[in-house]
Amino acid sequence: MKKLFLVANWKSHKRVEEAQAFLKTFLEEEIDLNETDKHIILCPSLLSLPVLTHDLQSLTPSFEISFGAQNISPFSEGAYTGEEAASQVAEFAKYVIIGHSERRKEFNETDEILERKVSLAKQYNLEPIYCIQGKEIAIPEGVNIVAYEPLDAIGTGQPATPENAEDVAAYLKENKNIPYVLYGGSVTAQNVHSYTTEEHINGVLVGTDSLNPNSFLEIIKNA
Ligand code: PGA
Repeated sequence: MKKLFLVANWKSHKRVEEAQAFLKTFLEEEIDLNETDKHIILCPSLLSLPVLTHDLQSLTPSFEISFGAQNISPFSEGAYTGEEAASQVAEFAKYVIIGHSERRKEFNETDEILERKVSLAKQYNLEPIYCIQGKEIAIPEGVNIVAYEPLDAIGTGQPATPENAEDVAAYLKENKNIPYVLYGGSVTAQNVHSYTTEEHINGVLVGTDSLNPNSFLEIIKNA
């Protein structure tokens, strides 16, 4: 059975209380994922992460979820004001998104910085979800999960075609030995199936439509 990662990237959305309300509603739903290989990953703000981890202990969901962070520092613990090191993030998260186009563009993250982040993440057993915007983008050593997110598909309602996403996924698996390739960019409950049924695609990275518990639940069910 094909492994599918269904990843919610909340970006700078939701205050702590809103994140808690999402989790409660989301986990009230009965979904049977036993016969599937679906892995659900929520990536909230770092401020909500410890609170949600704590809340999860007192909830009894019908399905399993994991948490991811949206960023880590390119440095180890030390005198780096305002940064969270991989070792600190790893206390609460299993995954970390690295290389998102918003971080490359708005925070000037270069391939060299991203490579350092991947290496630190791996050192502390945080699994990177490494975003690339096209086939030509460098992928650091040790990355197991890549998310293909073409720039003009992010937040636009204009997703890439499943054929284009499949073409990139097949290329990355065959030429770069990437075990898992996800697609991201304007994924909805209506279009998710067209990606996840492609042979080489192992899931989706969802921004906008992951913010509402019901729409993200629909995405999970339809995947
Ligand atoms: P979107 O964002 O689903 O809102 O297009 C995807 C992403 O940026 O990961």
